[in-house]
Amino acid sequence: MRAVRFTEYGGTDVLQVVEVETPSPGEGEVLVRVVVAGLNPGEAGIRSGAMQQMFPAVFPEGEGSDLAGVVEAVGPGVTGVAVGDAVLAVSDGRNAQAEFAVVPADRVVPKPDGLGWAVAGSLGVAGLTAVAMIAAVKPVAGETVVVTGAAGGVGTLATQLAVRTGATVIAIASAAHHEQLRVWGALPLAYGDDMADSIVALAPDGVDGMLDTYGHGYVDLALGLGVPKDRIDTIIDFEAAERTGVAADGQATVEHPAAALTELAGLLATGDLEQPIKGRFPLDAVAEAYQQLEQRHGLGKMVLEVSQP
Ligand SMILES: NC(=O)c1ccc[n+]([C@@H]2O[C@H](COP(=O)([O-])OP(=O)(O)OC[C@H]3O[C@@H](n4cnc5c(N)ncnc54)[C@H](OP(=O)(O)O)[C@@H]3O)[C@@H](O)[C@H]2O)c1
Repeated sequence: MRAVRFTEYGGTDVLQVVEVETPSPGEGEVLVRVVVAGLNPGEAGIRSGAMQQMFPAVFPEGEGSDLAGVVEAVGPGVTGVAVGDAVLAVSDGRNAQAEFAVVPADRVVPKPDGLGWAVAGSLGVAGLTAVAMIAAVKPVAGETVVVTGAAGGVGTLATQLAVRTGATVIAIASAAHHEQLRVWGALPLAYGDDMADSIVALAPDGVDGMLDTYGHGYVDLALGLGVPKDRIDTIIDFEAAERTGVAADGQATVEHPAAALTELAGLLATGDLEQPIKGRFPLDAVAEAYQQLEQRHGLGKMVLEVSQP
């Protein structure tokens, strides 16, 4: 099969698509023929070496956590998933960006008919992270919470899930995305100077929580606005979390990932949640796809279209 590999840390030019042996599913595993694989910024950090203390690469290293596709084979002991099923999955194996991927069966859930392949194939990491953030901050009706990076892959879902709690949601993003954020029921706010004053102007009675997907000082800003420590979650500013004691709950803290993914997939299939796809590339254009992702702007997710359903 063809799969993304890199053999040294570096820029997007180290990414290659090469022929490798097609894997076989072991005990409790499922082999999926990948239709769409998602991209996440953390993968760029692993590839560049910026995250090598926390997440070292093992060369030749693969890439990708999110995928949707069709079950090609199941290993011994797998029940509830059958050959030919349309599924989505989230893998810890850095192997989603390939024509076939082996994933533990407990990370594979059915793809509802109404859910598009691109949204399904980019749901895993961002979806679980958004769920973790809501669980950490626990917004409720009558409260006001702020979502930073509200247009990003995580931020779009975190914003909509926060709106669904009944809370007022201030969603920080560039003006180009304000119309969509308003449609989702949030109060959009442009980023720039004097963010504290801008937030207070929208929330004169105070801010109860912050879901920080952007970093760059938003944790300190929230504390400065009087948001309690236990109502702030950052998925990127680990230095601030360590220093101040706010939460740093992300995808890994979701207790029942398959149940959470099933619920999100259902909401996306019925249109109760939406996830825009900001870029689609063929597998061979993986380097170009990460170049766009690494600009860190735009609404929603990036995907690689690997094969036909
Ligand atoms: N801990 C975990 O479990 C976990 C899981 C997933 C992701 N993450 C991390 O969380 C972060 C977000 O991930 P993602 O997938 O949502 O990223 P993404 O899709 O690349 O999001 C980028 C977003 O950032 C926004 N942005 C750029 N400059 C901004 C600014 N100055 N203020 C506010 N927003 C700004 C952009 O909005 P505009 O287009 O409006 O500029 C864009 O929509 C990444 O750093 C990622 O590594 C952590």
